[in-house]
Order: sequence, then structure tokens, then C-alpha cells
Amino acid sequence: MRPQRVKIVEVGPRDGLQNEAQPISVPTRIELIERLAAAGLRNIEAGSFVSPKWVPQMAGTAEVLAGLEHRPGVSYSVLVPNMRGLEAALAAGAEEVAVFAAASESFSRRNINCSIAESLDRFAPVVAAAREKGLRVRGYLSCVLGCPYEGAIDPKKVAGLAAQLAEMGCGEISLGDTIGVGTADQVRRLIAAQSVAKDRLAMHFHDTYGQAVANILVSLEEGIATFDSSVAGLGGCPYAAGATGNVATEDVVYLLHGLGIETGIDLRVLAETGAWISARLGRANASRVGRAMEKNGAGG
Ligand code: HMG
Ligand code: MG
Repeated sequence: MRPQRVKIVEVGPRDGLQNEAQPISVPTRIELIERLAAAGLRNIEAGSFVSPKWVPQMAGTAEVLAGLEHRPGVSYSVLVPNMRGLEAALAAGAEEVAVFAAASESFSRRNINCSIAESLDRFAPVVAAAREKGLRVRGYLSCVLGCPYEGAIDPKKVAGLAAQLAEMGCGEISLGDTIGVGTADQVRRLIAAQSVAKDRLAMHFHDTYGQAVANILVSLEEGIATFDSSVAGLGGCPYAAGATGNVATEDVVYLLHGLGIETGIDLRVLAETGAWISARLGRANASRVGRAMEKNGAGG
């Protein structure tokens, strides 16, 4: 049965902007997040505390957090790859952090320079310390439906790793189709293989092959109620050549509202935000819904 209410985790300010060729100023990052919060997004990934040599676009995340209005009911999370990242997140007042592992060895190496097992060993104390400080912790798994270097990934392998992240203390596990290759039946099989409770799972689709909205519909039917998406379909992945952005938040909200599912999001304000950030970045708006609404006079 489909859920009646869905949680959307807006990852545009992190997953989206981390892949932009040009540096984005801290004030623009702050304005994007404020606009998203004003549109009704309640879970927003605001940046990451990773090595600026690896991902220079996310430098300045502490300044971004410091500049936010911190509205009640809005949670701003950040990615942390290690203890150093967690310390920086705590110093910046983060209330939620995310660790990120991969379901493919090659992607793990390319993304965080270590094996999957090493990454889990590294995350365990980070997750424990974060929880001790009262933070919520999310665990990502990348390449769950395919890897740019290894091809197909076994759903059972994904299930085992997701369970390890859950046991470690990650409250929510986000399963990422990093390169956006998965199709509906693969998604069904992936979800069916999981042992972690469905209310602790999120799906994170990139839209490279245009399958993300179909994959979300299938996930809803399988009982998943949390989805990651990115306003205007921003982004890609610096370690997955050819991968496009996340599924656009506007497209997800349009789907959900059409199904009578509550999101608490004002689609018009969201579409205006998508049009605004696309213009600011000088890129085409990758949201089909956003483009349609712009043509109909709702963008800005
Ligand atoms: P490393 O080179 O193996 O480790 O990097 P290191 O400890 O030798 O550190 C290298 C340099 O980074 C050193 O500086 C450290 O001090 C510094 P140097 O001595 O060379 O001047 N450093 C840090 N600086 C700031 N904050 C830190 C930090 N840690 C070390 N926390 C490391 C290992 C994990 C640090 C590196 O590989 C890294 O930062 N990777 C991040 C990659 C990343 O952010 N990828 C994108 C996010 S994942 C994603 O997009 C997928 C997702 O969306 C889901 C999906 O779509 O599937 C989540
Ligand atoms: Mg991603």
C-alpha cells in the first residue's frame, strides 16, 4: 500500500552543487536553502565536511550553516566522511549528519579512497560519537543498482551493507542509484531483498536514464515513504562520469500530489526556486515540471 505522507530529503544544496563546475558563493548557497525551506522542505542537506581537495564546491559549509535562519521544524544535515568531518559538523552546530559508503568496491575507492570494509570501520566510531552528542545519523549506500566501474550489483550485497549501517546506529539508510541506471523491476527486487525496516529506508535516485519517477512510483508501492531529490534536478556525481543530477524535487512533488500524497510543499514556490537557481548557475532547468510551469508563467 502507498504511504499517505512522504518525506522528501532535499539534497540539491549538497548533491546538486557539489558537482557544479563553477564555485557557488556562500550567500547563494544560503539563499537556495532559505528558498527551499520557504517552499516547505523540512529536510535539507546543506553541505558536506569533506576534503576541499576532493570536493572544492563544498568548502565553506560551516559558513553556510552559520548563515541560515534555522526555522523550527526544518532539519539541516551535512555529510561527514570521517571523525574530522564530524568534529567540524559539531563545531558548526549541525543536528544531523550522514556517513556515506558504497555497494561497490571500485566506487568506494574512487569516492572516499578506501575499501568498503575500511569505510565501515571508519564510520562506526563517527556514528557512535554523533549519536552520543544527540545527532540524528543517516547512512548512504551508493551504486545500489549499478556501478560505473563494476556494472550490476547484487541486491543481497546491498541488503547486507544496509543492515550493517543500521546496526551501527544510522537511523535512516538511503539507497542510492548513483548513476541513474536502475529500472522498475530492479528497484522492486532491491527493496524486496532488504532486511532493514522500510520506514528506515530512503531511496535516492539520479535521473540519468529518465527512470527516476517510475522508480519512485514502484518504491511507493513497495512501502517506501522517504525520497531524496534535488531542486531543478541539479547535480551529478564527481566520481561517476556521465551521471546526471538527482531526480528533480519538482517532478517528485508533482507525482506525489497527483497521487493525493501529502508533502507539505508548495510546488509553485519550489518551481520558482528551481528556475532561480538554474538561472543563477547559467544552466538549463533539468526539472520537466519546472520547465512546464515556467512556460505557464509560474517560474521566476
Ligand atoms: P584521503 O586522501 O584518503 O585521506 O581522503 P586523508 O586523511 O589523507 O586526507 C586528505 C586531505 O584531506 C588531508 O589534507 C586531510 O587533512 C584532509 P592535506 O594534508 O592533504 O592538506 N581532510 C579533510 N579536510 C576537511 N574535512 C575533512 C577531511 N578529512 C581529511 N573531513 C577523504 C579521504 C574521505 C577525506 C576524501 O576521500 C574525501 O573527502 N572524499 C569525499 C568525497 C565526496 O564528498 N563525494 C561526494 C559525496 S558521496 C555522493 O555524492 C553519493 C551520494 O549522493 C549517494 C548516491 O548518489 O549514491 C551520497
Ligand atoms: Mg547522489
